[in-house]
Amino acid sequence: MYRYDEVDYRIVRERVEQFRDQTRRFLAGELSEDEFRPLRLMNGLYIQRHAPMLRIAIPYGHLASRQLRKLAHIARTYDKGYGHFTTRQNMQFNWPALERVPDILAELAEVEMHAIQTSGNCVRNTTTDAFAGVAADELIDPRPYCEIIRQWSTLHPEFAFLPRKFKIAVSGSVEDRAATLVHDVGLHVVRNADGEVGFKVIVGGGLGRTPMVGEVIREFLPTHHILTYLDAILRVYNRYGRRDNKYKARIKILVKALTPQGFAAKVEDEWLHLKDGPATLRDVDVAHYASFFNDPAYETRAANPEGFAAKLAEDRAFARWVEHNTRTHKQPGYRSVVLSLKKTGVPPGDITAEQMEAVADWSERFGFGEIRVAHEQNVILPDVKESDLYEVWQLARSQGFATPNVGLLTDIICCPGGDFCSLANARSIPVAEAIQRKFDDLDYLHDLGEIDCNFSGCMNACGHHHIGNIGILGVDKNGEEWYQITLGGSQGNHTAIGKVIGPSFAQADVPLAFEKIMNLYVEQRQDGERFIETVRRIGLEPFKERVYAKHH
Ligand code: HEM
Ligand code: SF4
Repeated sequence: MYRYDEVDYRIVRERVEQFRDQTRRFLAGELSEDEFRPLRLMNGLYIQRHAPMLRIAIPYGHLASRQLRKLAHIARTYDKGYGHFTTRQNMQFNWPALERVPDILAELAEVEMHAIQTSGNCVRNTTTDAFAGVAADELIDPRPYCEIIRQWSTLHPEFAFLPRKFKIAVSGSVEDRAATLVHDVGLHVVRNADGEVGFKVIVGGGLGRTPMVGEVIREFLPTHHILTYLDAILRVYNRYGRRDNKYKARIKILVKALTPQGFAAKVEDEWLHLKDGPATLRDVDVAHYASFFNDPAYETRAANPEGFAAKLAEDRAFARWVEHNTRTHKQPGYRSVVLSLKKTGVPPGDITAEQMEAVADWSERFGFGEIRVAHEQNVILPDVKESDLYEVWQLARSQGFATPNVGLLTDIICCPGGDFCSLANARSIPVAEAIQRKFDDLDYLHDLGEIDCNFSGCMNACGHHHIGNIGILGVDKNGEEWYQITLGGSQGNHTAIGKVIGPSFAQADVPLAFEKIMNLYVEQRQDGERFIETVRRIGLEPFKERVYAKHH
């Protein structure tokens, strides 16, 4: 895991002191709302429905146990005892008092964390595969590159006032688990004809009010050119991106306006000035950052040790959990455990201080003190020995983390919606809960198989609803909360934007609509076909007919 050097420490500490002074001046009336807004946004502080909301960066979703303990302490001391993991692998606190935020930032600085660039029109936290470094299908460990991008983008003077926010995602494995196709820039690993590993460069993806799947502007970028190429992309965006209308300011609008080819040509022109310049990565730079991500001291172990295999055979509930909530590991005898934050009745992504402390303890006892945050809003213990899984399962159950639903219909990605967010059209949390209750029966849930259900409380799409196999969007109809359903969206290598099935539903009718959709799927699916595959094969029409039929 990356450790701060003196420069990192100094930047973060100085920023805390600057923000302390800015907050003091604002509270004393020396700075107006308008003057304070950009200053607080640069430090992740929004003013929300009930209180300020503070977004803390978790660089590429990696946490050390001491950092998670610190977040627990902050939740307990400065907030209401819990935090919320977001789809961009960050943590949000919904109830901090404005005057105490500088103290929170000072506490974060002690454990090498901050909230810099978690909002505002700048380069945001770079995200990646939550299984980076441990996934069996990885071609390259993306974390050193994420760290290099983090350092390059932090306080980069040229890119502090972009036309709009800018999000980068990096995927180092064959299967894209970092949603690279719906980011402003996605870097997805590829091998060229000579067997060299580099990145495919994707630009202009994004959700929000104009959802778009990104376009490939370069099929192969050698790894040592990533910063020069990102500089080129951002320069073109900074120069030509629209600043007159914030709804047309994201890079996706520019890519569309110039066409992907036109945009790529401008980037390549710009790159001519930058290629092989000082920002080119030397082997020694890459080796330096890679050294922070060396494998921990794995033991040489056999896969499927005896005791583990026996437990799988004798305990069906355990076997079910292993099947759904753990993932294969590159190291024989180990698995990664996904702790589900999607227990029915708990807002998706929420985690209490006590739970954070428990996870921090387990990460040390059953791993190497490391935790990952997945963009699906779950938490991962990356390196658990198979022989320890039974104990981990029991502990996870004791903290409400063992619902065996990862990747299934009730593992809903969900934004905070109208309960917390002032931009919301509708509440999301109670509706997500109603759906979870409807599909509470584990046999049925498991029979339905993999389904991504994503939920946003408004068109800003923080809950990624467009790329859910089933998406739900909160809409406002004459001051009332309604819900629009989309089908056919997907993330990963076959990213697609879902299509609206028809008129929206009142809150109470959403679970019933889901039930009808699932019934039709079960009737129509062919051997082993996943939900999304059935939707792709038969199209939306049969679903529309079923959902909107007068009597069924
Ligand atoms: C509660 C305070 C929040 C506010 C005020 C807020 C605001 C916004 C806005 C205005 C956008 C649209 C930006 C655009 O399209 O240019 C957006 C997008 C987004 N937000 Fe949030 N958000 C909040 C919370 C969250 C949470 C909790 C998550 C994660 C669950 C999140 C993750 C995202 C993501 C992933 C997008 C992606 C859409 C895209 O840029 O392609 N946000 N947010
Ligand atoms: S999607 Fe809308 S309601 Fe949900 S968090 Fe984002 S801005 Fe708020």
